[in-house]
Amino acid sequence: LAAEIDHETSPEKLLAPVLSAFWDEEKPWTLETYRRHDGYEGLRKALAMAPDDLIAYVKDSGLRGRGGAGFPTGMKWQFIPQGDGKPHYLVVNADESEPGTCKDIPLLFANPHSLIEGIVIACYAIRSSHAFIYLRGEVVPVLRRLHEAVREAYAAGYLGKDILGSGLDLELTVHAGAGAYICGEETALLDSLEGRRGQPRLRPPFPAVAGLYACPTVVNNVESIASVPAILHRGKDWFKSMGSEKSPGFTLYSLSGHVTNPGQYEAPLGITLRQLLDMSGGMRAGHRLKFWTPGGSSTPMFTDEHLDVPLDYEGVGAAGSMLGTKALQCFDETTCVVRAVTRWTEFYAHESCGKCTPCREGTYWLVQLLRDIEAGKGVMADLDKLNDIADNINGKSFCALGDGAASPIFSSLKYFREEYEQHITGGGCPFDPAKSTLWA
Ligand code: NAI
Ligand code: SF4
Repeated sequence: LAAEIDHETSPEKLLAPVLSAFWDEEKPWTLETYRRHDGYEGLRKALAMAPDDLIAYVKDSGLRGRGGAGFPTGMKWQFIPQGDGKPHYLVVNADESEPGTCKDIPLLFANPHSLIEGIVIACYAIRSSHAFIYLRGEVVPVLRRLHEAVREAYAAGYLGKDILGSGLDLELTVHAGAGAYICGEETALLDSLEGRRGQPRLRPPFPAVAGLYACPTVVNNVESIASVPAILHRGKDWFKSMGSEKSPGFTLYSLSGHVTNPGQYEAPLGITLRQLLDMSGGMRAGHRLKFWTPGGSSTPMFTDEHLDVPLDYEGVGAAGSMLGTKALQCFDETTCVVRAVTRWTEFYAHESCGKCTPCREGTYWLVQLLRDIEAGKGVMADLDKLNDIADNINGKSFCALGDGAASPIFSSLKYFREEYEQHITGGGCPFDPAKSTLWA
């Protein structure tokens, strides 16, 4: 896709897809296919460097975490103390569950070796001899594929003892979760991996100081680690030639909703939704964009006024949202905002782990109010109550799930208050659900 972008309207110099470059080949997931596309060449370069130089190199590339927060990957590796005598761990967060987010799972399905190669490189850098992949439990076919790729990598000498004669020993464990959204929060994930109920831990200490089994641990997203081999193989300057200054490189966007061609699109950071829609066939025929999310439902929603906002951490941030997971959910004029927000809030109430009161109680009460409004049983004072409850969740909860639950309430009231009022004054939903392909 990136190759098709019109260079005159594109934000930066654009190159061909990287992570998704050979997804449409026959059996792209095999080691043989991966090697045919220079697979494991980045590892050879990495092993020729000193671990600290390797960390500095990844830091200089500007790679930022692709799980949502955009934290600099090299800096996270640098936090791992050296010479402390403790084991160090790398844990890959593959518990992708944010509504609308579907890029890590397809990446693992189509190109699992890019992640395995990235894991070996990262472990060499942080001096770890045991890495874990924590996979969302529902995706059993991906689990099978990962197991097979790991088996291939062990057999070829990319995992195990004395990798490629470098002296590096590395064991890789693939672990499937049990389907709780909160286990994607890094410290809940660590508790779950240790065999406990997955609930967030207090931070600090951050995992870099006390993570898995209380040892220094890097927790990185799948796409972040899978991007590292290409940076090593093709160079940090090549990587920096894409994207924007503070958000360099290529990335995977998940495009879904009322669009003609939903799917994963690889393009530089800093591209706009207008450009992505132009390239991917646009909204479904005869309909126009009403609202959309830059990073799943945890990020404040945007409207058609924001079609030209650069999708990087600065552009979206300046416009009052977060980039998050780059899950672009697009809704057309047939969608009821109140209904969409109610469904999302039901999700957060269901997935709230119950550890802290603002989120546990607040999400429950948001759902009650939203259901009343949707059913035409609300009163005008409910709108201030919604805002007030969201305000008592936002920034006052123990982890980011609470903030995520509050964000669609704030943004929908900001942009679509009239639609809430219509439900109240008109005695129910003015939209015909039969006209929307969603929410059936
Ligand atoms: P955060 O900004 O608190 O932390 C980001 C990373 O930086 C973490 O790994 C943290 O350990 C590390 N870090 C931050 N400050 C540090 C310090 N001083 N020392 C050492 N390490 C430090 O963000 P958080 O809460 O980890 O993640 C929130 C993001 O997760 C949201 O932006 C959201 O988009 C995303 N998310 C993704 C989902 C998915 O399915 N991929 C699901 C839900 C949320
Ligand atoms: Fe649990 Fe919600 Fe509190 Fe996070 S914000 S700790 S999910 S109750």
